[in-house]
Amino acid sequence: MELYDFENRKNRDLRFSTVSKEYIDYIKGLAKSDPFYPKFHVAPKHGLLNDPNGLVYVNGEYHIFYQWFPFGPVHGLKHWYHVATKDFIHYRDFGVANFPDSKFDLEGAYTGMMIENAIYYTGVVGNDKIPSTIKADFRENSFINKRQILKWDEQLTTLNFRDPFVWKLKDSYMMLTGAQNLQNKGQLTLHRSLDGENFESLGYLLLATAPEADMYECPNYIESDGKGLLIFSPQGMTEKTRYDYRNVFSVIYTIGNPIESDERRFDNKSYHELDKGFDFYAPQVFNDGKRDILIGWLGNSKCTYPSDKNQWSHMLTIPREISIRNDILIQKPIEELTLLRQQSYQVNDSEQLKAKLFELVIENTANFSIVLENEMGHYLSFSGQNGEYILNREHTTYPFNEVYGHQRYALKKMAMGHIRLFVDTSAIEIFCDDGETVFTSRFYIEDLNRLSLSGTTGKIYYLKNIEYS
Ligand code: FRU
Repeated sequence: MELYDFENRKNRDLRFSTVSKEYIDYIKGLAKSDPFYPKFHVAPKHGLLNDPNGLVYVNGEYHIFYQWFPFGPVHGLKHWYHVATKDFIHYRDFGVANFPDSKFDLEGAYTGMMIENAIYYTGVVGNDKIPSTIKADFRENSFINKRQILKWDEQLTTLNFRDPFVWKLKDSYMMLTGAQNLQNKGQLTLHRSLDGENFESLGYLLLATAPEADMYECPNYIESDGKGLLIFSPQGMTEKTRYDYRNVFSVIYTIGNPIESDERRFDNKSYHELDKGFDFYAPQVFNDGKRDILIGWLGNSKCTYPSDKNQWSHMLTIPREISIRNDILIQKPIEELTLLRQQSYQVNDSEQLKAKLFELVIENTANFSIVLENEMGHYLSFSGQNGEYILNREHTTYPFNEVYGHQRYALKKMAMGHIRLFVDTSAIEIFCDDGETVFTSRFYIEDLNRLSLSGTTGKIYYLKNIEYS
């Protein structure tokens, strides 16, 4: 059986037609037997997952797609993988929904979204990966009729032009796309259309206040409670503080009066980092008729992970219901996740862990700490003291991506209410300040078996796996 070397960008163009079934079974087996593989997060059976794509709710079912390089734990030829669920517990696995197989996306079917059973995404072609905007129809769980609707405009952007997001505004379809201008600065381009097919360029979206960055990726725009909410992922931000923008790339949100179709302004007042953890990027939002839901990539670019050796990489975050309160984004785990709960126990100081997947709900106090540890003294800690939250993964068994530091900090906005933590083998998502402050991270502790609390008490709920059919 042929194995592949992915060093120095080798073998990034592998296709199913060139890889043996034996190899696929081999890497699938490695991923399956990895003790750090998650149980209630959507993760790739093998290969590398990145951005969530095409999130949509149709006929009582949530469809979730993601960027996927099937053949190793690296970024390579991008496909879209497809799963669907009615309850976020039981999933149908549809396999690949979008192969990079047309003359518009032969070198990659990049990130995109879905609206009114139409998919908009970026296809790249050639050695230079020339981008263009592709539209396809979603029929009976397949993508059909791929067509190019927007060519790359070299007068407006560098080759970094991707990730369209389309929304309906009165009689128009508006489209934001992530871009880099000719001065190599991040921008979002804006297009408008009457039929969702023929788009005219309106130039760049004018933001009243915007982060200085090299490139903006993955824009999302929704309106909620009479406000516009814009989320995007800037690369190469310069303005770092102890509390913000410590990762290789960041995600920000910004709120303002809704965008008008005859203007190209968004009068946002300020912007904020959306997640305070180590591993979060390229989230996408959608509405299911009742609520707005956000799912992110639980990972980040240019980072490698200890479990990559088992030929799988990354997962999606748990779905979060989002809302706006006093111009601040609030994120809460969607309610359905309480159905994952199994046995529960009160924890006063310490608990011998019966499994590595659980939800912990503690009282937020002025001074608390939570420690997850093993018999060898390796631990992860999350504490709230002196007006700060601190997530520290320095003393875990396998520290990684150390150039980006071992700690993440956020200002503590509350010393009351509850903090909810979701732990899934090597992933942790922490919801504080009633959803205002969230930390999303990976961590690796061999034989994790103890939880200790100080300055607080709480309840642990062991969780069950999500299931695929
Ligand atoms: C974000 C991103 C997008 C791009 C996709 C390719 O992580 O770089 O800008 O479309 O990943 O997989």
